[in-house]
Amino acid sequence: MKNFVYLCAYMINFNYHNPTKVIFGKAVVTQLGREAVKYGNRALVLIGQGSVKKNGLLDLVWAQLESMGILPTLFEGIRPNPVYQDCDKAVQVALEANVDMIIAVGGGSVLDSAKAIAMGYHVNHSIWDFYTQKAPKPASALPILAVLTLAATGSEMNPYTVIQDTENGLKIGYGSPLLYPKVSFLDPTYTFSVSPTQTAYGVVDLISHCLEEFFEPTPSPLSDCIATDIIRLAFQYGRQVVTEPENYEARAQVMWLATMALNGSLSAGKYGGDWGVHALEHSLSVLFDIAHGAGLAIVYPAWLKYHQTQASAKLDFLAARVLGDGHTGVEFIEALEAFYTEMGAHIRLGQASIGADKHPQIIENWTKSKASGGFFKLASQDYPALLELMA
Ligand code: NZQ
Ligand code: ZN
Repeated sequence: MKNFVYLCAYMINFNYHNPTKVIFGKAVVTQLGREAVKYGNRALVLIGQGSVKKNGLLDLVWAQLESMGILPTLFEGIRPNPVYQDCDKAVQVALEANVDMIIAVGGGSVLDSAKAIAMGYHVNHSIWDFYTQKAPKPASALPILAVLTLAATGSEMNPYTVIQDTENGLKIGYGSPLLYPKVSFLDPTYTFSVSPTQTAYGVVDLISHCLEEFFEPTPSPLSDCIATDIIRLAFQYGRQVVTEPENYEARAQVMWLATMALNGSLSAGKYGGDWGVHALEHSLSVLFDIAHGAGLAIVYPAWLKYHQTQASAKLDFLAARVLGDGHTGVEFIEALEAFYTEMGAHIRLGQASIGADKHPQIIENWTKSKASGGFFKLASQDYPALLELMA
């Protein structure tokens, strides 16, 4: 019998307070200036590796800030699977420019880096010390405004940030209530230019967030119903966004699904979710520099198969809600694999050119990072069989 922790038979007490103001829809970036001016008159504008220059969004952001007398300073080059060294450099730039706020323009990697920089601004140590728990929780952070360009992580409406130390093979998540963006601007048209593959990874990520929260066994039926509805709608609109990248309606639905999948709504009444699959995936991202969603498309089906027996009741509920009455958990796993494949995501390590020669490295990283879940407790004896299902 695999190790499984069932903590509570009742919905637990909770506080629900999400302070992020979301401004959603076409051309909402035109409201950026008047929102930003509430937080000061100097801003660090943080971007990735150029997509927002190509699609013209950076020019609009710049014009908005200047129109309100805000002095912008640019920091560019945040990479997917962001590294702590870039964040430390950006903290120095922010200090030299004496900024009052950070404007993050990009996907989850840019937003997560903005959160790291926001905490790092007020301390005299590397931002990485927060993630490794060497430093105490931050006492303050710069305000963050986010202009989202990719529907995936939910970072635009949550207090989490995930950063890595590539040399030491560590990718670590961190959270503080100080890190909720003050305002997030969500214009689906700025996701039109996201490639079909990256779009698919975003859909995989949002579905995975629902699954992580859903498979926590603490009863919270409303959360479970919302999670399964989000997954059902992600199947429906996910197909559309991948094949029709400029379909505004489909892009808009996926954007909001992704935000809702990880903004606290699905963990109300629960301890927060299992998150074992994310722990396993972070090793793949840091070792092979693959996109987070690409790794999740490989790990989740394997994890579901591995826990099929213990999770059978929840799997059947999920199948009925997503596929229709009478469908079984096994059919759900098959449908998930078929859906990911249809969207162009790989569902096996081998398809992603990660061969058996890399398996020892993966197991070593899982062992080092103690990859496990909050409820479906994984340990070293589980790793080989899980890996076999992913191969
Ligand atoms: O760097 P640029 O040039 O902007 O290109 C990016 C990048 O190459 C590109 N892109 C973004 N918006 C685009 C675009 N290309 C064309 N048009 C646009 N509009 O897409 C690529 C991937 O971007 P990235 O920000 O890395 O993707 P995503 O939003 O999926 O973020 C992934 C990161 O978030 C972390 C992941 O681990 C990963 O590091 N996560 C953060 C979470 C959170 N904060 O709550 C939770 C998640 O589970 C996840 O762990
Ligand atoms: Zn994720």
